[in-house]
Amino acid sequence: MIGRVCGTGSYLPIRTVSNDELSHVMETSDEWIRERTGIRFRHVALEETTSDMAAEAAARALKNGEVNADEIELILTATSSSDVIYPSAACIVQKRIGAQNALAFDLNGACSGFVIAFNTAQAYIRAGIYKTILVVGAESMSRLVDWSDRSTSVLFGDGAGAAVFELCKDAPYEHVVGVRGDTLIRVGGPCREQRMTMDGQAVFRFAVTTIPQCVNELCQKAGVTPDDVDWVICHQANVRILDASIRRLGMPAEKFYRNLDRYANTSAASIPLALDEMREKGLLQSGQRIILVGFGGGLTWAGVMMEV
Ligand code: COA
Repeated sequence: MIGRVCGTGSYLPIRTVSNDELSHVMETSDEWIRERTGIRFRHVALEETTSDMAAEAAARALKNGEVNADEIELILTATSSSDVIYPSAACIVQKRIGAQNALAFDLNGACSGFVIAFNTAQAYIRAGIYKTILVVGAESMSRLVDWSDRSTSVLFGDGAGAAVFELCKDAPYEHVVGVRGDTLIRVGGPCREQRMTMDGQAVFRFAVTTIPQCVNELCQKAGVTPDDVDWVICHQANVRILDASIRRLGMPAEKFYRNLDRYANTSAASIPLALDEMREKGLLQSGQRIILVGFGGGLTWAGVMMEV
């Protein structure tokens, strides 16, 4: 008894910022950013707040899944960049979409946030507590990064994605691997002035070890091989991280969806943004076996195998 994704939605800020534009405000270049990360541009929320984006992505997911707002029993918003501490982004989403019957709370799992929220939603469904859950990943990373730190600020972007889960009694797969935490990416300083600092190379090494480990563990738990997997949707941080993980796994690169050239690293929003984009392009077909892998700040990682 697990929840199946029955609708997805996303929202991207209207304003895009190219690498060339960044090179006018800091010492960087399109060539450096593209070669080191694969990013060409990112969306930056100038007008929108995190909750604005979350609510819009949520409304679109409900519309796509043909689910009424009052059917939603729980809203989980994965974010590390909520507008304020109270009300949570999830509470603002609840009010905006009119989900009057839903409990709503935020969950901060950094870039692993959506997968952690996904797995939390599955646990509620499996326990028989809720049948219909809305999970949102939304981030305004542009407000969290230190724009004077070129090695970190150029990597991130803003956006939101959402998925509605409905109880599905006969769905065959849902294998979950765990979450671990230590501290390498951290946000320092007193509350409102907090800015992200990161040891990029250490995070890189962590990611290229964790992704293959996570994919292999999920396949083992499900009793299948990576050949039996149709798609791997990894957190979109860096194309070199994806390429190195693919080499280690020996899997075909086409099975790893990627869109970070256009969005950069949108943290908890990257996986639901990818899911929604893949659905729109008709890439997700019933019966396909999909692995989601999140990794990032904490350091944390989380994975799940599911069938669409
Ligand atoms: N533009 C131009 N030069 C830059 C730059 C930028 N935006 N950022 C850093 N540099 C410079 C550095 O100052 C350094 O210069 P130096 O050799 O004169 O000291 C040089 O480029 C190389 O820096 P280095 O840190 O060795 O580069 P790298 O190959 O490790 O790439 C990252 C840096 C951050 C792109 C890479 O480590 C990475 O992607 N890590 C993973 C980060 C990540 O994805 N985090 C989020 C996970 S959720």
